[in-house]
Amino acid sequence: MGGEPGTFEPGEIIEFLTETALKAKLYENLKKYELPDYLLYMGAEGANNWLALDASRTFPVARNLKTLLEAKRSALITYLPSNMNLLSVGVGSGEKERLLLEELVRKNSIDSRILGRKKLLHYYPLDLNRRFVELALEKVQDLPLLKKGFVGLVETLPTLKKHLHPPLLYCILGNTFCNYEPTFILKLLRENLEPEDLFLFDAHILSSSSSSFSSSETAKVCRAEERFLLEAYTSKENAFFNTSPLLRQGLESKAFDFELGLVFVESEFTGRLYKTKKKLHILKETQLQIGAKTLVFKKGAVIRMGFTYKYTFDQLQIILKIQGFEILKTFQGNFDSRSGTNLLVLAKKKI
Ligand SMILES: C[S@@+](CC[C@H](N)C(=O)[O-])C[C@H]1O[C@@H](n2cnc3c(N)ncnc32)[C@H](O)[C@@H]1O
Repeated sequence: MGGEPGTFEPGEIIEFLTETALKAKLYENLKKYELPDYLLYMGAEGANNWLALDASRTFPVARNLKTLLEAKRSALITYLPSNMNLLSVGVGSGEKERLLLEELVRKNSIDSRILGRKKLLHYYPLDLNRRFVELALEKVQDLPLLKKGFVGLVETLPTLKKHLHPPLLYCILGNTFCNYEPTFILKLLRENLEPEDLFLFDAHILSSSSSSFSSSETAKVCRAEERFLLEAYTSKENAFFNTSPLLRQGLESKAFDFELGLVFVESEFTGRLYKTKKKLHILKETQLQIGAKTLVFKKGAVIRMGFTYKYTFDQLQIILKIQGFEILKTFQGNFDSRSGTNLLVLAKKKI
């Protein structure tokens, strides 16, 4: 414990990933004309860009999920055991985790007093960006927790396991779950969760799917939600966030077009799934300098970028069930016919 009242150990950080390794990944991906979403968050600029986007008026997606968590956290905490530790994957600034940890610490301290035990909870923020891990640890400086941060990709989870103390609440917050292929992320979690562990994620969802255009009312809601998504995802702020890693490597703003659309993909289990699709069209020959390496893109080249799934609640339920998860509790935000709604899901692995 720290020396001054109300301050505690800052926590150590273990690095499984360096800036140099991320730069090498940027080069390798761009060579294949790909820019996956995780590379948007690299470096000091990546961290600042995300924080600016999250705070911007035109991109309320992750911010509204915080409001939902704020409103539901005391109800949520009743579903968690008082000795539950917390691991957050893609922690970002860690402000949502702070909300949960305040509640968990309170519950743990009450139960510890009743049971006459002394147990500090563990907190493990994980992010590919060291700045975010530092920020997340700073955010809980005043809370009595055993803190250990990890700099690494989500794929590092199996390697981390030897550092972790169950029971764990695995959190993936800020709509990040929707940036992964569900089969990939749920398989990874299934392979790592212990029977007593739980999984919490949030998502901005659609109220109805366009595949069920059963009434003109449904169709109207779908069109309004589509408009909201297009406005948020094509906003100037989001376009800057998406292209900034290339602008930093020397791409001129007049040398490309950023295209964002909403497409349907067919899924065997859920029917039509809504997904954002992003591309960069190179308009004139461009040379990028990535560390010591140079890449040349010819006019007409197309760089494929990351995506976000836009699920309906029914689709999420089907996906979780098929991937071996049982939903324990969901919390939904107020339905807004313009912008869809927000959902918080607490689940466990089916044994
Ligand atoms: C959409 S932001 C959400 C941040 C935060 N959880 C929130 O709710 O505001 C995604 C976060 O995940 C991190 N991230 C993205 N892809 C990752 C990956 N493959 N492995 C580890 N972290 C990742 C980013 O650096 C960023 O902090």
